[in-house]
Amino acid sequence: MTALQDLLAGNAGGRGCEVEIGCGNGHFLTSYAASRPDTLLIGIDIKAKRCRRAREKAEKRGLRNVQILHVAAEAFLHDLPPCSVDAFHIYFPDPWPKSRHRKRRFFTMETLRSMHGRLRGGGRVYFGTDFFDYYLQAKVLLALHGGFRLSEGPVPEAVLTSIYGQRFVKARKAVKIFSAVRFPSLDDQGEQDEHQGKVDDHVQGHERR
Ligand SMILES: C[S@@+](CC[C@H](N)C(=O)[O-])C[C@H]1O[C@@H](n2cnc3c(N)ncnc32)[C@H](O)[C@@H]1O
Repeated sequence: MTALQDLLAGNAGGRGCEVEIGCGNGHFLTSYAASRPDTLLIGIDIKAKRCRRAREKAEKRGLRNVQILHVAAEAFLHDLPPCSVDAFHIYFPDPWPKSRHRKRRFFTMETLRSMHGRLRGGGRVYFGTDFFDYYLQAKVLLALHGGFRLSEGPVPEAVLTSIYGQRFVKARKAVKIFSAVRFPSLDDQGEQDEHQGKVDDHVQGHERR
């Protein structure tokens, strides 16, 4: 089994699971995790040094519900089972402000489709940025996707404790944050069962060897 499958298997028993994509040094994740001891919080980042710092921060605070994975978001999403996550948190993703670089932004229709498939019905995507056009882009994609409802509900206060959050608060820069709720779908249980069947086959195959 992969590290991710191990993690999810160890989180059975109805505990929640939330993911921060681009967790940086783990400021947000560790603050947030302290207030949610019964939820598994997975932080992922593409930079090894930041992952190490985030891990150290979680250890120092004695947080047993935090796991940090050094992995690219796209590969991570690909490996996540369907309907396995309660929330994705994406705060201050790289904005790629030059128009010729916009295609490098993380939040695209493709990644949104991936997140939609991995979220449980009623699960949420939280998104925050100081780039107004990125905020609008994310909202337009959500509307075009059709599988989410924009929510007026509160966003976690800890967002502004991240390195970038703190920086923008200090500079009095406007930050835009929203959350969107995934509509439940009739296929959810079928997809979960199909995935569980594949996992069971895989485990039995190993046991027979
Ligand atoms: C601008 S920083 C924000 C960090 C943190 N969320 C904060 O608010 O302080 C963006 C983070 O996303 C990470 N990142 C960029 N592209 C990524 C990818 N494809 N997969 C995972 N992490 C990525 C970067 O390494 C960086 O730590």
